[in-house]
Amino acid sequence: MTKSMQIKNNQLYLGKFPLSDLVRKYQTPLMVFDWAHIRERMNEFTEYTKSSLFSTRLVYASKAFLAPYFCVLMKEAGWWIDATSGGDLYIIEQSGFPLSRVVFHGNNKSTEELKVAVTKGVGIIVVDHIEELRKIVQLATQYRSEVNTMLRINPGIEAHTHYYIQTSLLSSKFGLSIEDAQGLEEIMQIYLHNPMVRLLGFHAHIGSQIIDVKPFVACARQMLEFSHHTEKLYHYPLRHLNLGGGFGIRYTDEEIDYGRLLSLLLNEINANLLSLSYQLDALYFEPGRAIVGEAGTTLYTVDYVKSIWGGKKYLFIDGGMTDNIRTALYQAKYRVANVNTAVSEKMIIADVVGKCCESGDIIAQDVEIPFPDQGDVLAVFSTGAYCYPMAMNYNGALRPAVIVVDGDQIEEVCRRETYQDLEKLFTKK
Ligand SMILES: Cc1ncc(COP(=O)(O)O)c(C=O)c1O
Repeated sequence: MTKSMQIKNNQLYLGKFPLSDLVRKYQTPLMVFDWAHIRERMNEFTEYTKSSLFSTRLVYASKAFLAPYFCVLMKEAGWWIDATSGGDLYIIEQSGFPLSRVVFHGNNKSTEELKVAVTKGVGIIVVDHIEELRKIVQLATQYRSEVNTMLRINPGIEAHTHYYIQTSLLSSKFGLSIEDAQGLEEIMQIYLHNPMVRLLGFHAHIGSQIIDVKPFVACARQMLEFSHHTEKLYHYPLRHLNLGGGFGIRYTDEEIDYGRLLSLLLNEINANLLSLSYQLDALYFEPGRAIVGEAGTTLYTVDYVKSIWGGKKYLFIDGGMTDNIRTALYQAKYRVANVNTAVSEKMIIADVVGKCCESGDIIAQDVEIPFPDQGDVLAVFSTGAYCYPMAMNYNGALRPAVIVVDGDQIEEVCRRETYQDLEKLFTKK
C-alpha cells in the first residue's frame, strides 16, 4: 500500500477518499498516484545523498513516468530531469521546466534531437559513442553553442536483476566499455581539440530494480577510479560523475531501506574520494522507479470471474498488458487487493488477466484475495513506474486516466484516451 492508504470499513482508502469513489468518478482502468509517497521518497533521496565533499544533483529519470504535472514538482524541488528523446524534451519544455536542468540520454539520438539539445541549451548531453560526439561537435560549431556533455561508460558490472533490464554487461549496447582504452583515446582527442564541447565527466547506469547496495558500491568505486585516472592521464578536469539510477522498490516482499542504502553508498563514495585525493564538484543520481513506482496504484474493474475445466480461475479485468506490459515483458510480480472487500473469509486464488488476444496478457498470477463480486475493483500496487509510459493501443485499447491525490486535492494529470484519439492518426479514404 502507499503511504496514505488505509483500510476503513473493510474498504481501501487513499487519504480520505475510498478508492471505489475515485473509480465511480474517473472509471477504470485508472492510475492513482499518492503524492505524499512521492514527496517522502524525494525527501529521502535529498537527505541521504548530501556530502560535504561535493554538491549532489538529483535527476528524476522521467522514463519511469513523464507528465507535465510531475515536471512542475521537480522544478519546485530543484531537481533535474532526464530525457530520452525529442518527445521527452518537448513535453518537459512545454511544462515550463528549464532545459538547462535536463540530462539528455539515448544510444541513438537523431540529428534533429541533438540540434534541439544544442540550440536550446539542454543542460547535459550524455554521449553514447564517438560518431554521436562528432555530430555534437559539428552542431556546436555550426550554431556557435557551448555544450556540456558526459560520456556514458559501461563499467561491466552485473547487477542482480532480470537480464533484460541489465544495461551494463560488457556486451551492452550502451556507452563505451571501461576496458576500451583505444576508444577512450579517440574520444578524448576530440574533446581536447574542440573546447566548445566540454566533457564534465562520466556516466554509468548498471541496471534496474537493484535492492542490494553492493553493485552500486562496486560501480561507484570503479567509476571514481576511472574518472580520476582519466583526469590525470589527459590533464582534463573531470569533476562531475553521474551514477545513474536503478534503485529498487517493493513489488511483493522486497525490503528496502533507502536511508541505509544511500548512506552506505555515500560513505563509500566519500571515503574513495579522500583516499584517491580526487576532487569532485558534482555527483548525480538518476532515480526513476524509486521515486514514482510504489506511489502508483492501478485500479481495474473485475468484469468476470472465470473457472475453467480443471479448476483454474481467472479474474478478467478491463485493462491488462496494454497499460502494464511489465509482467509479459519481465515476468514482474505484483501485490493485488480487492478494493471493495479488504478482508473476507471467502477467498479466491486466481490469475489476474487482461482483455487482449494474447495468452501472455497477465498482470499477476496466483493471487489470493477476497472473492470479488462482478464489478468489484482490484488495486495493483507499485505500478507507478514503467507501466503508463509503455501503454499502447493494441486491440484498440485506450490509455487510462491518471490522477494524483495530494491530501484533500485530486488532480487529473492525464485524461483517459478516447476513440477519437485513436482515429486521429489515420488517413481517411
Ligand atoms: C541512463 C538511465 N538513468 C536512469 C534510469 C532510471 O532507472 P530506475 O528507474 O531503475 O531508477 C535508467 C533506466 O533505464 C537509465 O537508463
